[in-house]
Amino acid sequence: MLTVRAPATSANLGSGFDVFGVALGRPADVIRVERADRTTIDVRGVGSEYIPEDPEKNTVGAVAEALDAPAHITIDKGVRPASGLGSSAASAAAAAVGLNELYDRGLSREELVPIAAEGEAVVSGTAHADNVAPSIIGGFTIAREDGVTGIDAAIPLVAVLPEIVVSTRDARRVVPETATVEQLVETVANAATLTAGMARNDPRLVGRGMGDSVVTPARAKLIDGYNEVCTAAMAAGAAGVTISGAGPTVIAACTDHDRRRVANAMLDAFEDRGTDARAYQTRVGRGAEVF
Ligand code: HSE
Repeated sequence: MLTVRAPATSANLGSGFDVFGVALGRPADVIRVERADRTTIDVRGVGSEYIPEDPEKNTVGAVAEALDAPAHITIDKGVRPASGLGSSAASAAAAAVGLNELYDRGLSREELVPIAAEGEAVVSGTAHADNVAPSIIGGFTIAREDGVTGIDAAIPLVAVLPEIVVSTRDARRVVPETATVEQLVETVANAATLTAGMARNDPRLVGRGMGDSVVTPARAKLIDGYNEVCTAAMAAGAAGVTISGAGPTVIAACTDHDRRRVANAMLDAFEDRGTDARAYQTRVGRGAEVF
């Protein structure tokens, strides 16, 4: 029997739509895997009532199938479903890492990324690797069709999850189909700046690189109070703010010194709109860990 902790993640980071992702120090999903003749799943924890236990409908069931590794799997959810924090990806990542070890499959962390992404496709409909990659590998990741590149980083972050529901399906429907050459140039500049910031562990560069005039403004309309929360975060010292994944979580990069102030300012801004929210004061962290 093995226990695996796989972290929540934040995909996109503004300029890296469907490509960039970071592992967060917290929250996380914890799963336990035990060899069995057929796969069975128990789910408990945050939002477990919304997660099917049928292996054909659950992300970890698809991972067990792909690895030919039947198991009794207990999922303790720490990452709320539909939060924009890679909830299904955390479970898929934990299952991929745990079952690979339980059955001695010998796959590398990079090789497990497409397997976990297929598992995620069961619930989200599309096999994006931008959440499973950081949850498995840790740090900041660049997920491409042909593989994943990771950079270790420890940038301080604030992730604020409001009590708002945004479905990934709706959030993908509003993504514009075209962009101008000016927006392309701006996106390349921001993505390169953000990547340099991760490599140098420089929150200011990361924050500047979070800018995005294509996807984020279209999605911001789905999060009541988004602009006010961004303004409050920047006034409190954040280096940059954007939507985490498909939302509704809003994520800010900042220094350790400013982190608490940024978190409080973002919570207050949501509260001013009458929206309850929860803040995670965290940082770019490790990938899945086996105990
Ligand atoms: N990159 C994805 C999106 C992450 O923003 O839609 C959520 O699955």
